[in-house]
Amino acid sequence: MLLGTQRINDQNHLEIGGVDVVDLAAEFGTPLYVMDEAAIRQRAREYRRAFQSRYPNTRFAFAGKAFLCTGFCKIVEQEGFDLEVASGGELYTALQAGFPVERIALHGNNKTDAELRMALDAGIGYIIVDNLLELERLAEITVGRERPQPILLRLAPGIDPHTHRLISTGQVDSKFGIDMQGEAALEAVRRASEIAGLELRGLHCHVGSQLLDMEAHLGAIGIVVDFLAAARDQLGLVLPVLNIGGGLGIRYLESHKPPSLEEFAAALTERLRAALRERDYPAPELQLEPGRSLVGEAGTTLYTVGAIKAIPGVRTYVTVDGGLSDNPRPALYQAEYSILLADRLGDEADSVVTVSGKHCETDRLFPDVRLPMPRPGDLLAVQSTGAYNYVMASNYNRYPRPAVVLVNEGQADLLVRRETYEDLVRCDVVPARLA
Ligand code: LLP
Repeated sequence: MLLGTQRINDQNHLEIGGVDVVDLAAEFGTPLYVMDEAAIRQRAREYRRAFQSRYPNTRFAFAGKAFLCTGFCKIVEQEGFDLEVASGGELYTALQAGFPVERIALHGNNKTDAELRMALDAGIGYIIVDNLLELERLAEITVGRERPQPILLRLAPGIDPHTHRLISTGQVDSKFGIDMQGEAALEAVRRASEIAGLELRGLHCHVGSQLLDMEAHLGAIGIVVDFLAAARDQLGLVLPVLNIGGGLGIRYLESHKPPSLEEFAAALTERLRAALRERDYPAPELQLEPGRSLVGEAGTTLYTVGAIKAIPGVRTYVTVDGGLSDNPRPALYQAEYSILLADRLGDEADSVVTVSGKHCETDRLFPDVRLPMPRPGDLLAVQSTGAYNYVMASNYNRYPRPAVVLVNEGQADLLVRRETYEDLVRCDVVPARLA
């Protein structure tokens, strides 16, 4: 499977954005994250076209937790997406990039007062309030501020999506959002609407991530629209915004078949219209917060093959120059990926090997991958690493984090430079009494 602008060139090398990955590895080193700019922009436009042609009052915010750095904020902004941040650090990054602050929304299930103040001081567009404690913290912090802060309330719609348990968020047993069983959610709406420093604009829910079907999203729409109607009937409040989070899955393997954006948009907007009609509720602004489905397939990680250990009758380990520290997802979620031998794409895939990393762990990064038999010095490309890879990278074993390169139409530019050994000790302190 080839994704985005990936193609095989005359030298049987993988090319992304018109650049040969062998040249990328030579220029920037490996491991290397490569982001396909055209693929991202095209996806952003597809999202907008698919939804806005059916439901014009739709706004998109890119979920920065999937991938964020200052340069990338420019692409998000240029494509007319707003930005969703989940921490003070993500907010700082967006502000450093000069992202229009009124188009930023702050998430988090345990925001600190410092994070809330930072967002308020910056003049953030929305704060998405996760719980009653946060509501009361905001009630205090916003006293005496000039402008009421727009907020959405995050609800847990009690839906169990079909995804890995560590990335499902909308079910009843979840740390996120206000429980919708019982009266807590209505009480939260009532309380939010009476706090002078806040302007309750609407509701938010997010059902999970890497969802390959739309059931959870469709179920959540019905539940949340029911709740909007209940808030109107019982509290006399008509809320103008409905945010249904992110969550659409991507192709990590050829067998993964997520709905197209056209199918996704058609099903969601149809369900939304039907639910609104049924409750005679005025059409709200629809907000979506895609992360993975915007950038995931547009990212590729390049590794250089090193030691190879064949254990007769057992398996063959092919070691690459990265692993757990640049992609913890196989270890965390048993995530699987598609792998290409990027410098010998014409060769026959006649071997089954286990690609392992170079960390001091018994990690099987990518078990049982069918490839032409790799040789030391070959280049491996791991597809669909654009989301939740760079942002989840660590310095385990004190490996510097890889660079991120943006490719487009034959050009390659750094988005994030590779960390150096100096970076690794930058925050270290030797207490005077030990010196
Ligand atoms: N909105 C909210 C409130 C979220 O919590 C998330 C993801 C998104 C939007 C974006 O969801 P997406 O469109 O990317 O599915 N580290 C995990 C993924 C965690 C997702 C957390 N929330 C992974 O590597 O799979």
